[in-house]
Amino acid sequence: MNREPLFAAPGPVLCVVGARPNFMKMAPILRAFAARVPPVRSLLVHTGQHYDADMNDRLFVDLRLPVPDINLEVGSGTHAVQTADVMRRFEPVVDANNPSCVVVVGDVNSTLACALVAAKKGVPVAHVEAGLRSFDRSMPEEVNRVLTDQIADLLYTTERVAHDNLAREGVDPQRAHFVGNVMIDSLLANRVHALPLADTLLRAGVAASSFDASNGYGVVTLHRPSNVDRADVLGPLLGVLRDVSERLPLVFALHPRTRGNIERFGLNELVAGKRIAVLPPQGYLEMLGLMTGATLVLTDSGGMQEETTALGVPCLTLRENTERPITIEQGTNTLVGRDRDAILREVGEILAGRGKRGRVPELWDGRAAERIAAHLDDWIARRAQKVEA
Ligand code: UD1
Repeated sequence: MNREPLFAAPGPVLCVVGARPNFMKMAPILRAFAARVPPVRSLLVHTGQHYDADMNDRLFVDLRLPVPDINLEVGSGTHAVQTADVMRRFEPVVDANNPSCVVVVGDVNSTLACALVAAKKGVPVAHVEAGLRSFDRSMPEEVNRVLTDQIADLLYTTERVAHDNLAREGVDPQRAHFVGNVMIDSLLANRVHALPLADTLLRAGVAASSFDASNGYGVVTLHRPSNVDRADVLGPLLGVLRDVSERLPLVFALHPRTRGNIERFGLNELVAGKRIAVLPPQGYLEMLGLMTGATLVLTDSGGMQEETTALGVPCLTLRENTERPITIEQGTNTLVGRDRDAILREVGEILAGRGKRGRVPELWDGRAAERIAAHLDDWIARRAQKVEA
């Protein structure tokens, strides 16, 4: 006689990605789930926040990410519209799959939106890269971080200071687990496949003869609204980069937001010329190769502050603050804001061979995803037993 089981078996773990910086964090987690015996059942959900071939497809290939099981196809919009659309489209996915947990990574709008849907439905949420704080609430990511951490059941952290931040916000310390940095898992796993500069320039259609990097080069990325959304901010910043390029040629990988604003504000002249190679957003292996070979990196990215620390390449961060203080205390990162003198001074120091060398932080050892998978697998099993008891 067939009898219905008294309790449904725990459903799959829903793994959410939305935007570019999520992909390199989720790839090693999915692999670690698959490597468990028996494997942790998981479904990859893409919200569609990033959708361009440059921002999305190439990274999926580079990181050997599977085709998402579910794509919510939300696309671009204001923060409210984007967050609301993700929530509306994610709710039926949760209803249909009875997940044992929803795993979100990082701090993008998709992270908060999916965490909120799950939490309201009583589905456990695991937040990877929890507890980081810039203490700057004008940053959309900071709002996403604070709120996601408040509603997540499991908080996996990359550095110990995260635990102090969480404790200050009243988060039960039992929920937080120091596991290391999954983004560095991806970096270490893919380092051997990183593309050399010459190949990347060729692919981007930049003739080797028109860009002389024989005495070194710098890598630039810029995309934060606070740096690129106003002409009177972006213009002077590009002016400083132009000054830097007179001392060190620069490879500038342009985010679509930045490209659009440069055109809209009529600033193309500032990035023209032989000393600056302007490239579209790069694939993961291209970017890894660019950073690995660079004399220095100038960026407002969160992830690249950590990647340069792991690679031992000096990083000048074009922001007033960072949510990743370990990259300053132990790594190769220096905050320079948009201060022309500070930027040129630090560039001079690096070119004189006095750049920060740093060391690799604790547990940035390529095994963070393995630790997460082991902990989460056990946690889900114990929770299922408790429910049955
Ligand atoms: C988002 C994240 C940010 C992350 C960044 C990496 C939030 C709040 N921000 O910012 O933390 O560092 O991703 O890129 O979630 N666009 C395209 N093609 C795309 C995606 C976007 O052209 O595939 C353009 C659109 O004009 C869009 C704009 O870029 O409006 C911004 O995209 P959005 O996802 O809103 O934010 P990002 O600035 O990329």
